[in-house]
Amino acid sequence: MENETNTNAVETLLAAIKNRRSRGVARLRPDSVPQALIAQALDAADWAPSHGETEPWRFVVYTGAARIALGEAFAEAYRRDAEADGDFKQSSFDAQRERTHNVPVWISIGMQPATDASGAMKMTVEEEQMAVACAVQNLHLVACAEGLAGMWLSKGVFRDPGVARFVGLTEPHGRLLGFFVLGFPANPAPNGERRPLHEKVRWVD
Ligand SMILES: Cc1cc2nc3c(=O)[nH]c(=O)nc-3n(C[C@H](O)[C@H](O)[C@H](O)COP(=O)(O)O)c2cc1C
Repeated sequence: MENETNTNAVETLLAAIKNRRSRGVARLRPDSVPQALIAQALDAADWAPSHGETEPWRFVVYTGAARIALGEAFAEAYRRDAEADGDFKQSSFDAQRERTHNVPVWISIGMQPATDASGAMKMTVEEEQMAVACAVQNLHLVACAEGLAGMWLSKGVFRDPGVARFVGLTEPHGRLLGFFVLGFPANPAPNGERRPLHEKVRWVD
């Protein structure tokens, strides 16, 4: 019933939220992940809220051989940046190119804002980004509940405009917000840690 508190559902949900952990490349097994599990997590992502029902999240799922081209896109992004700064290293280029090989699933996290007839954004960049973050959290929660593990990577080549074009985001408004790596965990989940809640919440009567 709609207004009846379902204690079990709340406890299950809270446990799923508290047990969700971020686990990066080194903590994932290379074994492939059944497509149905990835699809279920993406379905959860799609049920995120968005102001104005813009649904700005865009995901591209790279598995199998598709990861080779993605690694090359990362390496080229590194080359552009490093050459501009004058500190290109072949070993770093190779590492960027090979980094996709050991994780079975790479999901690009894109934001493609809704626009009106004149091409102007219907909502603000902040609102559209917040909606994408909600979607990623849904994805992560369901992936962990399925026994998978993963992490949002949001720095450097993972946000590169050239990589954004590679994953199909369109200018002027499309943005790449990172990548979500996904796989089966290589080891037990680390303990989660949070500073005391009272440092972040103020109650006002
Ligand atoms: C928007 C966003 C971006 C993140 N980017 C990175 C990242 O680039 N590298 C990284 O190691 N972790 C990244 N993380 C994961 C955080 O490090 C992680 O959430 C934090 O350590 C708390 O751990 P938990 O997720 O297991 O609770 C990101 C998380 C969020 C929400």
